[in-house]
Amino acid sequence: MLIKTDGDGFNHPLGSEITSQQTYLRRRGVLQWAGVSALAGWSSAQAQGNSMPSGQLTPMPGARSQVSGLAIMDKPTSYKDATTYNNFYEFGTDKDDPARYAHALKISPWSVSVEGLVKKPGKLALEDLLKLAPMEERIYRMRCVEGWSMVIPWVGYSLAALIRKVEPLGSAKFVEFITRADSETMPGLRSSVIDWPYVEGLRLDEAQHPLTLLAFGMYGQVLPKQNGAPLRLVVPWKYGFKSGKSLVAIRFTDKQPLTSWMKSAPQEYGFYSNVNPNVDHPRWSQASERRIGEDGLFSRKRKTLMFNGYEPQVGQLYAGMDLKKFY
Ligand code: MTE
Repeated sequence: MLIKTDGDGFNHPLGSEITSQQTYLRRRGVLQWAGVSALAGWSSAQAQGNSMPSGQLTPMPGARSQVSGLAIMDKPTSYKDATTYNNFYEFGTDKDDPARYAHALKISPWSVSVEGLVKKPGKLALEDLLKLAPMEERIYRMRCVEGWSMVIPWVGYSLAALIRKVEPLGSAKFVEFITRADSETMPGLRSSVIDWPYVEGLRLDEAQHPLTLLAFGMYGQVLPKQNGAPLRLVVPWKYGFKSGKSLVAIRFTDKQPLTSWMKSAPQEYGFYSNVNPNVDHPRWSQASERRIGEDGLFSRKRKTLMFNGYEPQVGQLYAGMDLKKFY
């Protein structure tokens, strides 16, 4: 399938969007504060496993991102919907299970192990990850393979910043993301829907794409546990299951990783999992979606967009590929 893109595949920021030095310095101040207070918050109330009511998590603001496609016109999903209608199978398969049970997740101390084909492998403490790059707010459209969508203001930075720091070797072609699996705190691990831990993967160039976000917060606060605290991946042009929550390891490989969903249902889930209205799931159509919060009696379904609407930015990554085959 041929993919239409605008030249180099990226939308460049308008001149008016380029940060003045004054704005930049102001943002630096905000960001330093964000880093410090976010840490303070994690090491106290949340870390002890308290379930905090919405709107009371530690502030985690981010400067408006310059990566394009982010200030979209869609209205953000309500915080309540975004934090009570979740998929986080480690805490159960019902949509309200994560909000009910994820408070048990222990998120301090936390570190991410960087492994495999990199010059600088090692363990990175959450404290250091928070300081690795300036926090940005990015409003992304999210589309779940089940046929619903949300619009979430995430806070984080491009995963590319971390990838640059660890220096992948020339032989690295893929990145595997491994998430927390703790049978003490995660009742969902008793079920065999997935061969735990939950594992996802990207091609290295997908992982390095500026839209691929390492998120630490949402709605101006640190991530609630049910949304993948203390850090998760967000890949907005792919179905939601590619965005692993509560990451503990990032492994650089030369072979395409075998992801959890490919293992449990290979006939239904491929490696790429790009949002594509022209390729149906074997059991249902992917042509349209239900936007959470718009589910009144008369509300219409929305048409699903190629690459979830991010085609101008990411289409080039798949030029010449048959997306029916590489679904
Ligand atoms: N990550 C882990 N570790 N476990 C999961 O079950 N579910 C995925 C993804 N990441 C999942 C996960 C799926 S299917 C979706 S749709 C999104 O998380 C949901 O993210 P949200 O609850 O923040 O909307």
